[in-house]
Amino acid sequence: MQEFVVDLAGVRDAEAMHDALAARLPLPSYYGRNLDALYDVLTEFGNGWRIVFRNAGPVADGLRDVCRGAMEETDGLEVFFEDEKRKDETMDNEVLKALRERRSVRVYRPEQITDEELKAVLEAGTYAPTGMGWQDPWIVAVQDPAIVAQLVRMNAKVMGTTSNPYYGAPTIVLVFASPTDKVSFSICDGTLVLGNMMVAAYSIGLGSCWINREREMFETDEGKELMRKFGLPDGLIGIGSIALGYPAVPLDPAKPRKPDYYRIVK
Ligand SMILES: Cc1cc2nc3c(=O)[nH]c(=O)nc-3n(C[C@H](O)[C@H](O)[C@H](O)COP(=O)(O)O)c2cc1C
Repeated sequence: MQEFVVDLAGVRDAEAMHDALAARLPLPSYYGRNLDALYDVLTEFGNGWRIVFRNAGPVADGLRDVCRGAMEETDGLEVFFEDEKRKDETMDNEVLKALRERRSVRVYRPEQITDEELKAVLEAGTYAPTGMGWQDPWIVAVQDPAIVAQLVRMNAKVMGTTSNPYYGAPTIVLVFASPTDKVSFSICDGTLVLGNMMVAAYSIGLGSCWINREREMFETDEGKELMRKFGLPDGLIGIGSIALGYPAVPLDPAKPRKPDYYRIVK
């Protein structure tokens, strides 16, 4: 593919635009210097051309229409307008993609994630917004197999099942916060921490899934004992947790969003 960059800075009218095109693109000498002629040469010679227009400004509209038409007709012709490209990228950047594409993972590979990956996820959690900026939540990442097994047992007991509620994930990240009667932000704060961590996990190729029942688990004597073992202050409540590890299966696509999910009132 041959790439041509055509900078149209300062080009204000059709004549100057066609001069710039003739100077930058390998157009035939008979090029007629109008938009119909441009369409003809792009469809005839454009296969294998990648043209990037910069600063198209005042002449962009007609030029864009012709180039779009020519691209539809011509395999291997690619035309970009840099301003437009930038706008598309802004509305479809990595963060937005991660928010859309993250999915709950319920099958994990057995091997442990790296310390670097774990830290990236935990750090992302610490940057979640918190009510009054109090940074009330507490995050505990558990990788000790004996404690993971204990959490599995405790959670399964609340759930009334014998299956593994954390789906065999090698890391479990627990989030705690102050009780709601003291700080009414606790559930919101903890939830945002969990949300940040799940998106962060996806963004670095990890799988995660919110796993519930931490509230009940850590109301028990065994749960309180474990919180002391974690070195947490007394009196916190369990908000939720995430199972974390390498996904063992491809991620499902998102279910369609309900049609009236949001509305805009102007
Ligand atoms: C508050 C909350 C509790 C959840 N609890 C569980 C759970 O205990 N076990 C589980 O497998 N998934 C749990 N999930 C995950 C949801 O089932 C999942 O997010 C939902 O089905 C949408 O799928 P997605 O995350 O792939 O978009 C929970 C999610 C939230 C937000």
